[in-house]
Amino acid sequence: MPTQPDVMEKLVSLAKRRGFVFQSSEIYGGTGSVWDYGPLGVELKRNIQERWWHAMVRSRGDIEGLDAAILMHPRTWEASGHVSGFVDPLVDCRNCKKRFRADDPKIKGTPGTPGAQCPACGMKGTLGEARQFNLMFKTFMGPAEDTAAIVYLRPETAQGTYVNFLNVQQSTRQRIPFGIAQIGKAFRNEITPGNFIFRTREFEQMEMQFFVEPGTDMEWFEYWKTQRMEWHRGLGLSPDRLTFHEHAADELAHYARAAFDVQFDFGGSLGFQEIEGIHNRGDFDLTQHQKFSGKKLEYFDQGSNKRFTPFVVETAAGPNRILLALLVNGYREETVEGEAEGRAVLGLHPALAPIKAGVFPLVKKDGMPEMAKRIADSLRPSFSVFYDDSGAIGRRYRRQDEIGTPFCITVDGESAAGNSVTVRDRDTLQQERITVAALGEYIGQRIAA
Ligand code: GAP
Repeated sequence: MPTQPDVMEKLVSLAKRRGFVFQSSEIYGGTGSVWDYGPLGVELKRNIQERWWHAMVRSRGDIEGLDAAILMHPRTWEASGHVSGFVDPLVDCRNCKKRFRADDPKIKGTPGTPGAQCPACGMKGTLGEARQFNLMFKTFMGPAEDTAAIVYLRPETAQGTYVNFLNVQQSTRQRIPFGIAQIGKAFRNEITPGNFIFRTREFEQMEMQFFVEPGTDMEWFEYWKTQRMEWHRGLGLSPDRLTFHEHAADELAHYARAAFDVQFDFGGSLGFQEIEGIHNRGDFDLTQHQKFSGKKLEYFDQGSNKRFTPFVVETAAGPNRILLALLVNGYREETVEGEAEGRAVLGLHPALAPIKAGVFPLVKKDGMPEMAKRIADSLRPSFSVFYDDSGAIGRRYRRQDEIGTPFCITVDGESAAGNSVTVRDRDTLQQERITVAALGEYIGQRIAA
């Protein structure tokens, strides 16, 4: 039984109508499981990423930033195990040409046998045997399309960090334990993408690799589990919708000694799903890159005068999935006392909301629009604000509620004389009168939390 209501359909429609997420190449019928982020979506995604960057890099002394390229030397992916191991078993239907994961529970019978039935067209005996399908996208580097020039679009940002481990360590003179963080695109030719932006073929990752002395890895693993769960709670994701899922031995990725997912309850048929993975990768990656490149990736500890290959504890989150979690978590419909029409609200944390304040003249006369525009212009250098003078004031409030704007500032009949405005709170619907001079501080304090 679903634990939470399914709001996905409503969110897909809201996301398109209000400019959070559009289907990629929509005028051509769309591209399979690729999405574009519109004016509000890009703000929300950036706010998530900036909050992560601040927590992981800027506010700490022991993590350095990096922005590695998407295209890497092809040997990288042999060393990392992705060429041989980043595969899903796949079956094709000869009749309807649809593809499925071989372990898709909708398949009846064993693929490749006469009794197996295709879950899409219903034909029996048309499903081929399972084949291993590599999830990496291939492309060609340089003008000649020969095999020597094949490169991959990275399926994770992590490898850019491993190959740069010594560059970062030596240029910053960091001492172990320390970390390297990056945010960037990753690509996986997922067999069963879907559920809106939950699983897509092009997505972003916010990854951090923390390099530690072998033997201290499980302590750091516990530390990062706690830190990362707290960070997700700090986004406003409801604590009862967040949980850890421990990977059993047969679930562990080829590089992992231990792994926990942070899961969020998306409701409906999705239920609890991974939004971040925390992995103890041991010395797997650095050892592999040393083997394949012939270059040492060891750390020299001056204190103890010893050389070793560090272990890595990795935190790997997806801003696209977190964005979806925030929409699901925040969406609510409620009745409003004394009003016939209810309202839809996106209860986003004020720090993450794409627009911090709507600025409205109560009516389009008596100098109110001019004053409201002046206020909007004065706030703009510090906050994203939206000026709106069209339609009834109630409708303008509703339009901001459904995109998560925490404050609505209204210039009314009393404003000119007292140089004051009303500020309406999205969640409590309380209105306070405050002076124009105090507005910046008022909003600043409330979004800083
Ligand atoms: N370096 C480790 C690694 O890549 P992962 O668990 O495969 O770990 C980390 O990916 C995060 O990236 C996931 O928790 C998820 O948020 C995001 N992610 C992975 N595949 C995705 C996809 N196809 N679409 C959207 N996000 C994805």
